[in-house]
Amino acid sequence: MVRPSETAMFLLLVTFVAPSLASNILYPVESESRELRTLHGLWNFKISPLSNQQIGFDKKWYAERFETLGDYWKMPVPSSYNDISTNSTIRDYVGWSWYQYEFYVPKRWTDDQLNVFLRFGSVHFKSIVWLNGQLCVEHEGGHLPFVGDATRFLKYGESNLIVVAVNNTLRPDTIPQGYTKSRTTRTSIQKVIEYILTSLITLIILV
Ligand SMILES: *[C@@H]1O[C@H](CO)[C@@H](O)[C@H](O)[C@H]1NC(C)=O
Ligand SMILES: *[C@@H]1O[C@H](CO)[C@@H](O)[C@H](O)[C@H]1NC(C)=O
Repeated sequence: MVRPSETAMFLLLVTFVAPSLASNILYPVESESRELRTLHGLWNFKISPLSNQQIGFDKKWYAERFETLGDYWKMPVPSSYNDISTNSTIRDYVGWSWYQYEFYVPKRWTDDQLNVFLRFGSVHFKSIVWLNGQLCVEHEGGHLPFVGDATRFLKYGESNLIVVAVNNTLRPDTIPQGYTKSRTTRTSIQKVIEYILTSLITLIILV
């Protein structure tokens, strides 16, 4: 039995939310009215020290070029840094990591008054996206696409800086669920992180 309030909520969702989502989350394909730009490539990548997970937010890494901050890596996107790095600190890293990339969009996109969306195929698990230092979109949930409206944050015909903060910490209430735990091995006193679910980070960014 559906209560009236639930019916009202459902109608509200269908009327206002569904059409706006449907218009944005279209699968990215070229057409006579749509252009596609992929941001696949080698991104700058940097992890926050485990002792200070907030440092990136406090020091505004979302507006800084990692070249000026140091201790950063080139990381292919899409890929999972936990899967491909030979550096054990990065391979076993769980927490806030940061990605950034510079790209250009043509000036005619603004002359033609086009709407531009950033589409992420999957970012695992929690992500926050800034474009030119401004918050563009936030998302929670691995393995699902999401979009952010980039139209008003972009610089047309100039260099753009996109920065993505990613937190791959899994909990029993995240989707997918999981957890990480530390244990001391018999052969070493080193602490290792045990992955219950593999933490796949795949950034597929399409403008
Ligand atoms: C591994 O990566 C961390 C984080 O970027 C870095 O501080 C450390 O120097 C790296 N270790 C090696 C052996 O390159
Ligand atoms: C993100 O990372 C921190 C520190 O590693 C953790 O405590 C937190 O639960 C994580 N998850 C989210 C959704 O922020």
